[in-house]
Amino acid sequence: MSAIYAAQREQNDLYINPLPVRIWHWANALGFVLLILTGLQLRYADLLNVIPFEMTVKMHNWVGFSVIANYFIWLGFYLFSDRIKVYHPELNARRFFIRAFRQIRYYGYGIFKGEPSPHLVRPYDKFNPMQSITYQIVMLLVIPAQFATGIMMWDIKRFEDWIALLGGIRVVDTIHVLIFIFFVSFILVHAYMGALGHTPSAHFKEMFTGYEEAGRKQDRQRG
Ligand code: HEM
Repeated sequence: MSAIYAAQREQNDLYINPLPVRIWHWANALGFVLLILTGLQLRYADLLNVIPFEMTVKMHNWVGFSVIANYFIWLGFYLFSDRIKVYHPELNARRFFIRAFRQIRYYGYGIFKGEPSPHLVRPYDKFNPMQSITYQIVMLLVIPAQFATGIMMWDIKRFEDWIALLGGIRVVDTIHVLIFIFFVSFILVHAYMGALGHTPSAHFKEMFTGYEEAGRKQDRQRG
């Protein structure tokens, strides 16, 4: 990057996605795609026969543990950085619902009329209310639940007490599969929403470069 370009960037652009978040995000996305594909092969071994069963089990386990280790990059970064503010919940219910309603109206109507998003992106307030609540639930509840059920099924004997506590292996397996279905839908919707910036590639670039491009005011506003 030339010095002039770097200076321009400092003046105008917003640094919204720090490096650890970007590394975590794309490694996590790749891991999830691999887990979904190997998970499908495991579940439908009789229909799909792309990879031998034993090898699929090993791949699913290795990728699973890598995704768990990678999660700690995300968690560690936010726990030890003031950027954790982006994950703070809005505790004023009235304010939350007003902002959430505006965002839903934008997704359902305003966006088709070319209106700017009602949410103004700032480094310490980058998520709109819908993103905020979705990411809090996904990162702090759904992903840990998927890790826990996966680890229990990885070594049934070692975790038999925990499995019994949850109601048996079929319950644990069902939770794991339901969350798997959730993530297949999540990735599709999430990737689609990612394309709703001021240009279809804007948010993807931000997740690679870390910077939100400077420019018109609505450049600071995203879906
Ligand atoms: C092919 C897959 C994926 C694509 C194309 C994609 C795309 C994106 C884009 C463009 C952003 C930045 C815009 C925004 O903040 O919403 C983003 C952020 C985010 N994505 Fe993804 N994503 C993918 C997979 C995933 C998966 C599998 C997860 C979680 C299971 C995930 C969780 C997140 C989270 C939590 C953020 C906000 C990160 C932060 O700033 O803390 N993404 N994604």
